Amino acid sequence: MGKLLHIIASPREESRTLEISNPFLESFKAKHKDRIIDELNLTKEKLPELGMERVDGNMGLIEGKNLFGELKESWEDIIMHINRFLSADLYLITVPMWNFHIPYTLKHYIDVIVQPTYLFRYTQSIVEGLVKGKKMIVASTRGGQYVTPPTQRLDFQEPYLLTIFGFLGITDITFLKAEPMDQGEELRKQKREEAGLSAKRPGREI
Ligand SMILES: Cc1cc2nc3c(=O)[nH]c(=O)nc-3n(C[C@H](O)[C@H](O)[C@H](O)COP(=O)(O)O)c2cc1C
Repeated sequence: MGKLLHIIASPREESRTLEISNPFLESFKAKHKDRIIDELNLTKEKLPELGMERVDGNMGLIEGKNLFGELKESWEDIIMHINRFLSADLYLITVPMWNFHIPYTLKHYIDVIVQPTYLFRYTQSIVEGLVKGKKMIVASTRGGQYVTPPTQRLDFQEPYLLTIFGFLGITDITFLKAEPMDQGEELRKQKREEAGLSAKRPGREI
């Protein structure tokens, strides 16, 4: 039975975004008692740095070479994260909006795992995502609101996540958004409650 990987990209103990993910997780656990939930908190777990040597590995893989020797050893923790990612068949990402985009910890994680040969490959005619048949839920809270113009175009987070995970082959992605969080207490309470309710039934069979 597959695993749910919960990737947490808010450093806050009192995370508002977790308040959206938690009702989803509760209803998921009630429905799927035997499913394993693996929590990856990007603030608490140190990710491998992508310095000069490790990045050379990426360039080599693109050119169709194998990793070997010291380079291969330096890639062990990257491969560990790739395998951890691939061992799940459902992903839950808890991500606040930061500067119209995602927090740097999530970008760091994406830069670590999105590696040629492992998660995608180039052929002469196409780029193929290698993560097939998996689903993703993205819980996101934002201080402002981005559902309508003119601020709608400032949401670089949702299109980016759809693009990068779509590139890998994950196209079944549901967003659970609560916004605006910083335009008055009443609105915050209402939007949190609405998102929490829809988190219990995210619109499709999970
Ligand atoms: C560094 C930082 C940058 C932020 N940038 C934005 C932003 O560009 N747009 C926005 O609407 N809210 C922004 N916010 C507000 C957060 O998205 C909002 O407070 C969110 O609910 C926090 O979620 P959390 O409690 O799960 O961390 C920012 C907050 C922080 C800490």
